[in-house]
Amino acid sequence: MNRLVVVSNRVPTATAGAPAGGLAVALDGLMEKRGGLWFGWSGAVAASSGGICVRHDGGVDYATIDLTQDEHDRYYNNFANGVLWPLLHTMPELMQFDRRDARVYREVNARMAGALLPLLRPTDLVWVHDYHLLPLAAALRARGVSNPIGFFLHVPFASADVLAAAPEVGALVRDMLAADLLGFQTENDLANFAAAAELFAEARRLPGNALEVGHRRVRLGVFPVEIDPHGFADLASAMARSPEAMRLRRSLHGQHLILGVERLDPTKGLLQRLGGLRALFEQSPKWLRRATMLQIAATSRKDVASYRALRDSLDREAGKLNADLAEADWQPLRFVSRAVNRALVAGYLRHARVGLVTPLRDGMNLVAKEFVAAQDPTDPGVLVLSRFAGAAQQLTGALTINPHDAHEMADALDRALAMPLAERCERWQACWAAIENRSPLVWGRSFVAALLRATTISAVPDLPLRANDQAKPPTIGTDMVLVEPRHLPIMLPDVVNLN
Ligand code: G6P
Repeated sequence: MNRLVVVSNRVPTATAGAPAGGLAVALDGLMEKRGGLWFGWSGAVAASSGGICVRHDGGVDYATIDLTQDEHDRYYNNFANGVLWPLLHTMPELMQFDRRDARVYREVNARMAGALLPLLRPTDLVWVHDYHLLPLAAALRARGVSNPIGFFLHVPFASADVLAAAPEVGALVRDMLAADLLGFQTENDLANFAAAAELFAEARRLPGNALEVGHRRVRLGVFPVEIDPHGFADLASAMARSPEAMRLRRSLHGQHLILGVERLDPTKGLLQRLGGLRALFEQSPKWLRRATMLQIAATSRKDVASYRALRDSLDREAGKLNADLAEADWQPLRFVSRAVNRALVAGYLRHARVGLVTPLRDGMNLVAKEFVAAQDPTDPGVLVLSRFAGAAQQLTGALTINPHDAHEMADALDRALAMPLAERCERWQACWAAIENRSPLVWGRSFVAALLRATTISAVPDLPLRANDQAKPPTIGTDMVLVEPRHLPIMLPDVVNLN
């Protein structure tokens, strides 16, 4: 079986384990089952750029490098999280562009490519992840790597006119096209990328989700990230009985729990959510003392200015909401900024009557899927979900709302809190059906299979055709293999059974 080499900025470490966020949830589940090499940043900042540290754990080799303080500031904080993150989430007003940060971002990608090079075997499949590593495929190609390279973007891809706000982005789009397959969370992200490739890289759209760039063909695909629904359901049911989860339940004294869980991030719509909660209690005072919200917003990226500003605003607004509406023995909101262990969150989700997931923009949002998996099928809670989360495309049983409209959010909360059991079950069934047969492994397998197809049909048309295909022109945009694979040797038969 070809070895899978995953490259991502975050890699689980021996001490801290899996980092927070959707990427870690998806990749951890995949690598645990599939094995391979996982390469990226150690999470540590060192005085100087040292060598690679390799650790073996349960079928996975973890290879990591440290960042210097300057690299951490400019590559991770300033460019990846201060420019690309807001831009790709269509929040360009939060972006702070500085050419020096863009340069260090490229340098770190080049350094990562150089460090990965000696670890690569000719038959490896390389799978690069997320916005930290947009130029990595090009940096690997520049070093002579001809292995199949796939890239998956976990966050949304904004429209080309939004992207144009950052001078560097055109070049990054061109670099992304060095991969054989580019994967996105939704059709909308794929369409935005294709339009950007036409604009910035003179790519030509071909039928069947392919682009022609120069004399190469690059495949595009939609691969919504998944959770392990059955594993998460078991975890939630066990953890709901844990002492901590029971303590939360007892503290509710029979009130309905509205639960929000995410990293404290400007894209998550946390301030708007507090506005929606206030509107609920003002519009429908019957819920005063009968419902309360727990918002877990784990502190994240606290060296980035927009995150610090958000924390200050949230502290102010949360305090004001409670001061305005609380009574001596009741408060509308409990706000927690400490990170809460994922297993315990699973238990909390099971006790929630409403899962409130209202990002202003989100690639997928795995908490929405986790909320569904965590429910008791005989008495499920209701998901209130932003229509701007990728998950809204799949979770059709949710009450979808515009997160900018406090009154619409309040109406949906009112409806969810009052919803009869039969409708809750029906809506939950629709959501569960969308996720129950999926998993990070299925997701990874479908991406890798598509990568193999892409590398066998992305060959340049002037490569020799097989003897018995001489008369036929190569067919692009189908799964037919008419030309020799560009990247050899690929051990196809084993790869069909990826686990
Ligand atoms: C999102 C991103 C990931 C990132 C995670 C946590 O899910 O798509 O790439 O790892 O957030 O953010 P952090 O900055 O802590 O890595």
